[in-house]
Amino acid sequence: MAETTIERADRYMFQTYGRFPITLVRGKGCTVWDEEGKNYLDFVGGLAVCALGHSAEVVTRALEEQSKKLVHVSNLYYTIPQTELAQLLVENSFADRVFFANSGAEANEAAIKLARKWAKEALGPQAYRIICMENSFHGRTMATLTATGQEKIKKGFDPLVDGFKFVPFNDLAALEGAVDQSVCAVMLEPIQGEGGVIMPSDDYLKKVRTLCDQKGILVILDEVQVGMGRTGRLFAHEHYGIEPDIMTLAKALANGLPIGAMLAKERLAPAFGPGSHASTFGGTPLVTAVATAVLRTLLEEGIMENCRKMGSYLKERLLGLKEKYGFIKEVRGLGLILGMELELDGARVVKKCMEQGFLINCTQDKVLRFLPPLIVERHHIDQLVEALDHIFEGIQDERA
Ligand SMILES: Cc1ncc(COP(=O)(O)O)c(C=O)c1O
Repeated sequence: MAETTIERADRYMFQTYGRFPITLVRGKGCTVWDEEGKNYLDFVGGLAVCALGHSAEVVTRALEEQSKKLVHVSNLYYTIPQTELAQLLVENSFADRVFFANSGAEANEAAIKLARKWAKEALGPQAYRIICMENSFHGRTMATLTATGQEKIKKGFDPLVDGFKFVPFNDLAALEGAVDQSVCAVMLEPIQGEGGVIMPSDDYLKKVRTLCDQKGILVILDEVQVGMGRTGRLFAHEHYGIEPDIMTLAKALANGLPIGAMLAKERLAPAFGPGSHASTFGGTPLVTAVATAVLRTLLEEGIMENCRKMGSYLKERLLGLKEKYGFIKEVRGLGLILGMELELDGARVVKKCMEQGFLINCTQDKVLRFLPPLIVERHHIDQLVEALDHIFEGIQDERA
């Protein structure tokens, strides 16, 4: 008998991912189909990537048109799509300058490099450390895994990169205590995504901003997961009344094509002069044409409004389940990044959902995470909640 796709994949690729035993072949809107033709409602959205859903027409059109014009040239030359995307990002954010990379980790690498290089001049050679948060996630390259506040991500890869220290998220006193002459920046996610959808406490981000201003150091916000409309505003920090000095984006920026971006204030620009940083594929015409189309759609077509409405509705429905089942500890999140913390292992809930035709994610073992496309509709949410209710009922019966 011929080998299945799964058998072949497991034979030829590194086993770095704990994959589910389905092979997805097609997607449209909020639905994906596997090789056997079974359909799933997708509440993972490529882990906060597919904001406009699968096979979005705006993406397909931009891909088709640009692929016939120009796919790639070197960053030795100017291109129109890259310039357009940079302008659009700047005009709709706190930032004045953009650097394009290929992923979230690479955008964060650029942020770390920019902060260090700026600080050498502005603060002196002793100021190279970056304070990061416990429980954070910033990527899998050597510098970004070092900046990540989770031991399991770093295990076995030492020696790590020098120059990072950690404080608990939401603990201002600890942060205050950690800032000294060796520090050039604080790097954090406005909402910790991989960490279990952990929200910043009321005025934490404002206080971080004020502290960094007082100390003359930078605020780097990693909006790789929560940026690009995910929280119902273009950038999550807009909810909290602050502006960073540097922000990183990736994931949803081109709805599935690989891109990362590092945005910063003008005063940092001289530190990244010619020759200081580069990326062969950073901001190709093809990818930036798609990202421009995606960003225009996000800004123009009521997608973020839908995100706010459907986010509130999903949260309300999940809170309804919490009322019913004692093993649900908490429901939290903003817009369409929502977490449901359980007192039990979430993996079996994810598995049962999949059997019933729903893709959901579990992070930190016990937190069910919902990251559907921002175009998700009420009836999709109703179907998911009904399935979850049924699954939880079974679990409750077992525990009784
Ligand atoms: C907040 C955050 N930063 C960085 C990354 C890394 O992005 P990438 O996998 O594109 O390198 C992720 C990925 O999940 C993330 O959630």
